[in-house]
Amino acid sequence: MTTALRSSLLPLLTAVSLWLASASAQAQQSRDALARTLPSSTLTGEEVQASRTRLLAAPGFARARVAGNPQAPDAHAIGEGSCIACHQLEADHFTHTLHALGLHAANKADASIPVCETCHGPGSAHAQSPQTPGLIIGFTKASGTPVEVQTRTCLACHKGGPRDHWSGSVHQRNDLSCSDCHNPMANFSAEGLLAKASINDTCAQCHKDIRIQFNRRSHMPLPEGQMSCVDCHNPHGSITSPLLKTNTVNETCYQCHAEKRGPFLFEHAPVRESCLNCHTPHGSNQNTLLVAPIPFLCQQCHTGQRHPNDLHTAQSLATGAHPDERVMGRGCLTCHANIHGSNAPSGPRFHE
Ligand code: HEC
Ligand code: HEC
Ligand code: HEC
Ligand code: HEC
Ligand code: HEC
Ligand code: HEC
Ligand code: HEC
Ligand code: HEC
Ligand code: HEC
Ligand code: HEC
Repeated sequence: MTTALRSSLLPLLTAVSLWLASASAQAQQSRDALARTLPSSTLTGEEVQASRTRLLAAPGFARARVAGNPQAPDAHAIGEGSCIACHQLEADHFTHTLHALGLHAANKADASIPVCETCHGPGSAHAQSPQTPGLIIGFTKASGTPVEVQTRTCLACHKGGPRDHWSGSVHQRNDLSCSDCHNPMANFSAEGLLAKASINDTCAQCHKDIRIQFNRRSHMPLPEGQMSCVDCHNPHGSITSPLLKTNTVNETCYQCHAEKRGPFLFEHAPVRESCLNCHTPHGSNQNTLLVAPIPFLCQQCHTGQRHPNDLHTAQSLATGAHPDERVMGRGCLTCHANIHGSNAPSGPRFHE
């Protein structure tokens, strides 16, 4: 569902579920009232019931089923009321989430649609013996529920799309569960039902080293909150290592730095190959995210040019007796300014 469609549905869901939160007798009354306001038709009673279901159940939640729990094969569903009897606090936090709104609306329209048990599996065995691990589907490593069962439960509704490559992805292979990044039990984040307040904090639970690189002198505005890890990565898996959103590194960068795509009359080969030949994405203590300072960056590939390459003496430095113009000012860039490619009529040397 598109975000736009979803956000336009949310107020409706909220309204519907608030309306339905009243006592069940009242709910029954209002359902009948709603049925009376429907255009009269030639539908049979059963068909009227079905059309009411379609009206009230949010798309995507109407097909909710009790999740299968291989560790409690004989258990049966006991309904949300029973769960709440013992889990009032969790249920209170859950109430304001997208899943609660959707599942409550669906459950009110069709009582066979479960709420808690959509994700946690049938609860009868757990209710009898809450201390026995595995009888309820838990979403932590300690819960006794295999990670594969946890993810299968969520993927029952969330297969495909961004998660096309979940299976076999580096996160899946390292035994991450959806709940390492998502906590659907409460709105910890503004969107995405994340485990932490923001996407970056969620990733930093495990990738602290990467998050810290963004504190270096030169960095893209991620610590400032204008970007997040998922601008470049798809944490659910991708065909490009390491979990890049697009097919190549450069395509990822062109999303925002479109002017670097060209086309250029005179291309600089290493730019076309990969931005990472000269830049590091997460942060650098050099200028402009460079992997090495100029002129050394350039000299990794360019030695013995037509202009000599003898830059490393104290005398040739800007402060020396015979300063070399290639280490003064902006170094090589003083003259080769259009380093990403050039359309300048002055030729293929990337001069201005
Ligand atoms: C009779 C009271 C009772 C009922 C009814 C009950 N639970 Fe529990 N549940 C508990 C207790 C007590 C624990 C904590 C067990 C522990 O700490 O070992 C628990 C733990 C859990 C856990 C955490 C499991 C884990 O290991 O991570 C989940 C999830 C859970 N319950 C969900 C549910 C759901 C969903 C329902 C309704 C289908 C439900 N419970 C019904 C008492 C109950
Ligand atoms: C959309 C799926 C989903 C639904 C629906 C859902 N839960 Fe959960 N629940 C989870 C996940 C995922 C976790 C693990 C959260 C975490 O990372 O700690 C969890 C954790 C829990 C826990 C363990 C304690 C905790 O907060 O970590 C309890 C108890 C629980 N849920 C009860 C319920 C009850 C009661 C309902 C219905 C009112 C419910 N859940 C509905 C997915 C769901
Ligand atoms: C019964 C089907 C169903 C199940 C099972 C289910 N979800 Fe959802 N979930 C939905 C629907 C429908 C939406 C709203 C539409 C959408 O975003 O696709 C949604 C939305 C979400 C969102 C986006 C929330 C937002 O604010 O944008 C996340 C994240 C999510 N679910 C994670 C999970 C996780 C993790 C699990 C397993 C613990 C899970 N879901 C289980 C149906 C389900
Ligand atoms: C490594 C962290 C991580 C893991 C593991 C993870 N997610 Fe996500 N997921 C995210 C982040 C971050 C977002 C927010 C993306 C955004 O806002 O663009 C997200 C967004 C979503 C959304 C809403 C947007 C969409 O893509 O439709 C759903 C649904 C979702 N995840 C489901 C799942 C399910 C199901 C699993 C387990 C199979 C899972 N996620 C595992 C990090 C993760
Ligand atoms: C629960 C821990 C955990 C969380 C949270 C987590 N990751 Fe990871 N991630 C791992 C592990 C484990 C690996 C594989 C080992 C490694 O390369 O460090 C990994 C690997 C990666 C890789 C490298 C893939 C490769 O092919 O080398 C990327 C990129 C990545 N994660 C991005 C993210 C992003 C983005 C988020 C947040 C949305 C995130 N991770 C959240 C544990 C986590
Ligand atoms: C501007 C795009 C961009 C952003 C934003 C970004 N990454 Fe990356 N990330 C990359 C690229 C490109 C690579 C490949 C680096 C390489 O191969 O040298 C990478 C590599 C990685 C790796 C693999 C290990 C490594 O250092 O090569 C991990 C893990 C990772 N990123 C996690 C994260 C996390 C966590 C965040 C958010 C804090 C994040 N990335 C933000 C582009 C980005
Ligand atoms: C989601 C958008 C986005 C993506 C994707 C992105 N960037 Fe950026 N980048 C920015 C923004 C915003 C800035 C800051 C611009 C400013 O301050 O004027 C920036 C700045 C930079 C800078 C200049 C940093 C400095 O210190 O002046 C470099 C170099 C850079 N990006 C390289 C890359 C590379 C390489 C990639 C691909 C791996 C990439 N960017 C992907 C948004 C993005
Ligand atoms: C051959 C080395 C090299 C490669 C490859 C390279 N860059 Fe750069 N880039 C530089 C240098 C040097 C600067 C500093 C320019 C300056 O200070 O005027 C720079 C500066 C930047 C800046 C900030 C200033 C500006 O011009 O906007 C961005 C953004 C940027 N690069 C993006 C990219 C992207 C995207 C790619 C891949 C398509 C890329 N670079 C590939 C060398 C390179
Ligand atoms: C990763 C290797 C690499 C790096 C780093 C690199 N270049 Fe290049 N550069 C090349 C290649 C390959 C060519 C194409 C050579 C050819 O076509 O014969 C080239 C071409 C050029 C040309 C045009 C040469 C000609 O004959 O048309 C200039 C000027 C140039 N580079 C300057 C620089 C400067 C200045 C830097 C540092 C900011 C730099 N390069 C960094 C690999 C690199
Ligand atoms: C003062 C201006 C200036 C500076 C500084 C400068 N260059 Fe040049 N460079 C030139 C000019 C002019 C040419 C064209 C010479 C020609 O066509 O005969 C050139 C040509 C080149 C070429 C192509 C050479 C060839 O053999 O065809 C490369 C590569 C190059 N420069 C790299 C660099 C690097 C690397 C640096 C920094 C260490 C640098 N330049 C600093 C002016 C400069």
